[in-house]
Amino acid sequence: MRLLITGGAGFIGSAFVRMTLNEHPEDSVVVLDKLTYAGNLANLEAVAHDPRYRLVRGDICDATLVGTLAGEVDVIVNFAAESHVDRSLEAPGHFIQTDVFGTYVLLEAARGAGHRRFLQVSTDEVYGEVRSGRSLESAPMRPRSPYSASKAGGEMLVAAYRASFGLPAIVTRGCNTYGPHQYPEKIIPLFITNAIDGLPLPIYGDGGALRDYLHVEDHCRGIDLALRHGRPGEDYNLGTGNEVSGVDVADMVLRLLGLPESLKQFVTDRPGHDRRYAVDSTKLGALGWVPKIDLPNGMEETVRWYRDHEQWWRPLKSGEFWEFYRRNYRPLSTGAASS
Ligand code: NAD
Ligand code: DAU
Repeated sequence: MRLLITGGAGFIGSAFVRMTLNEHPEDSVVVLDKLTYAGNLANLEAVAHDPRYRLVRGDICDATLVGTLAGEVDVIVNFAAESHVDRSLEAPGHFIQTDVFGTYVLLEAARGAGHRRFLQVSTDEVYGEVRSGRSLESAPMRPRSPYSASKAGGEMLVAAYRASFGLPAIVTRGCNTYGPHQYPEKIIPLFITNAIDGLPLPIYGDGGALRDYLHVEDHCRGIDLALRHGRPGEDYNLGTGNEVSGVDVADMVLRLLGLPESLKQFVTDRPGHDRRYAVDSTKLGALGWVPKIDLPNGMEETVRWYRDHEQWWRPLKSGEFWEFYRRNYRPLSTGAASS
């Protein structure tokens, strides 16, 4: 299979590229990535010299480029996105451009090329907050942040291309993903890297919002399975059933690093903060998907990776990173911007 993997220099996309080239010797991969702040070629160092891999720096919104690349492959796997909820609250336009318009450009190219598969990497956030129970794939989409609304918009276009043009598209809706190579803005890598530097761990609101954390390798295995054995036209949830709060994440990180609880800092809540996500993954389970890495082991490995790879994350925590950080976080006690 010849795959066009968009967003392949990001966190999950790069893990998927590495996994595909490792586990499918006959496959080749073209990565299309704009290399935004979240894209990082260091994530692809392990495959940089593999003759089956090629990198194209470019934008999924560039229809000419995407059309050319689509003609050279059999399938598109779309990871490219603006992915951070807090940034979507500050600048929604980037999210609508990449996550909605960019998805349209890819779908149009896949249709033109007559591809036999299109896989859209989506998120459990499209269901909106789930106060009780677990969302099945048939549950309505009720996104509540500009990020999740833009991901839902991308999915709506996928649904339209299936129905209108018979495009054999599959959607995966993964839950919160963690592991090595994750840009240190998401809670787990942010808390680990802050803790290593003795900085406070900023917990939104009362720290009680619940998320389900999935190791990046398990997420990639699920996407690979859906791509190769899923039914075109179907959506597949990926979750583990964990229910972990912000306070739980802080406690785990501090315990693994042997640091004091006093590093926990409660900050003003994220506007519209979804209280809970929870999906039912029975459908992908029926194809044989079982997450293999449990959270305690995955967290231990991840903390060790960030301790051992300071050269990977230190350069990322500078300049624009801290400017965003100062704008985004406000300690509850004073209401002043944090540093
Ligand atoms: P990420 O932010 O680490 O990486 C996104 C990648 O997309 C980066 O390499 C970036 O340079 C690239 N990109 C952004 N805009 C682009 C554009 N216009 N054209 C080409 N490339 C562009 O994201 P991630 O956490 O790896 O997430 C990957 C996908 O998985 C996203 O679609 C996201 O919505 C979805 N997802 C993420 C999670 C999670 O917890 N991280 C969970 C479920 C689903
Ligand atoms: O559910 C899947 C989604 O998970 C993906 O689609 C998104 O791309 C990904 O960013 C992630 O979204 P979340 O908003 O759930 O992830 P984040 O790591 O930003 O936040 C996780 C929880 O931790 C959430 O309840 C907010 C809280 N949090 C987060 C940060 C960054 C904090 O308390 N403090 C923080 O500094």
